[in-house]
Amino acid sequence: MTSLPCDDTSVAVYDSERGILSNIVSSQLIHVQFGGVYPEIAAREHTKNFLPVLDKAIKDANISLDKIDAVACTFMPGLIVSLVVGVSAAKSLSFSLNKPIIPVHHIEAHIFANFLVKEIEYPFIALVVSGGHTELVLVKDFEKYVYLGGTLDDAVGEVFDKVARAMDLGFPGGPIIDKLAKQGKEVIKFPRPLINEKGENRFNFSFSGLKTAVIKEIRKGIYSKEDIAASFQSAIIETLLKKTIDACKEFNVSKVVIAGGVSANSKLREEVSKIKDVEFYYPPLYLCTDNAAMVAYTGYKRFLKYKKGFGLSFESKAKCRIDRFPELLRNFHS
Ligand code: KG4
Ligand code: ZN
Repeated sequence: MTSLPCDDTSVAVYDSERGILSNIVSSQLIHVQFGGVYPEIAAREHTKNFLPVLDKAIKDANISLDKIDAVACTFMPGLIVSLVVGVSAAKSLSFSLNKPIIPVHHIEAHIFANFLVKEIEYPFIALVVSGGHTELVLVKDFEKYVYLGGTLDDAVGEVFDKVARAMDLGFPGGPIIDKLAKQGKEVIKFPRPLINEKGENRFNFSFSGLKTAVIKEIRKGIYSKEDIAASFQSAIIETLLKKTIDACKEFNVSKVVIAGGVSANSKLREEVSKIKDVEFYYPPLYLCTDNAAMVAYTGYKRFLKYKKGFGLSFESKAKCRIDRFPELLRNFHS
């Protein structure tokens, strides 16, 4: 029920029969002035926000805390100082209520946010696009993940944020660029990094060169912000979708689940609607960016599978690939 991987404090209550009963997200607007997340401030804000957010989630769900059957929390990957606050809060809750605790991987939660709307049949390719991650994963089943590739440098959302900062547009930059690009045209052909790469880098991404090219163009001051936004966004989307479709072909999969904050992008959604032979899924807008409903639901799936909690000894980790964490769960059993 809790989710604190970076700068959002969130608590949700999920009921297996009635669905999401509440999903409170408190975003730390304090970081806007810095154009990025300041770790120490993020941790302090989480500490301050957790109890009021928990209180509101319980009130909105119209239940009492003793009606909670289990507590799920994000334990990896993410900003370690934020994860530590979230895991400590969830462990305290689990201990005081004497209810099982279930650790959830952040990327896994983004993927399964899609299941809150509709169960999706396996196998599928997950295109994970967020502020911290850009990954392609073959999802064979719950906890059966094959990592196909990811970014070698910047994540997609991070590039949206940095380009927006270079244009003095505010933070987070993704939604602002999305809106601005609607009024622009693709007049600049920015590089599509690694797009036709074969071999081991075929499913990897690299966006830092594209970011530098866009920032150089901004500084030249020739084109409007709208045209730069539209041109930059096209380069990103074409690269993401080319590799996603390549993965579908190589693994003979016809479903793609888009996950993470950038899945809210309207141009990305428009482009996937034009693709035939592959079915695309993406979450409703309120489940795209970080939220605890996706964590609560993934925790519920894990609880159904193991029928028990995982003890209080597990710790948060800043990094751990989605395909590697299910084996860690075995060491956590209570
Ligand atoms: O998944 P998320 O909430 O946090 C992480 O786990 O990183 O993703 C946040 C990212 C930010 O970089 C934000 O700019 C981006 O998602 N984002 C978007 C849009 N809405 C949010 N990027 C492009 N277009 C959008 N509409
Ligand atoms: Zn996220």
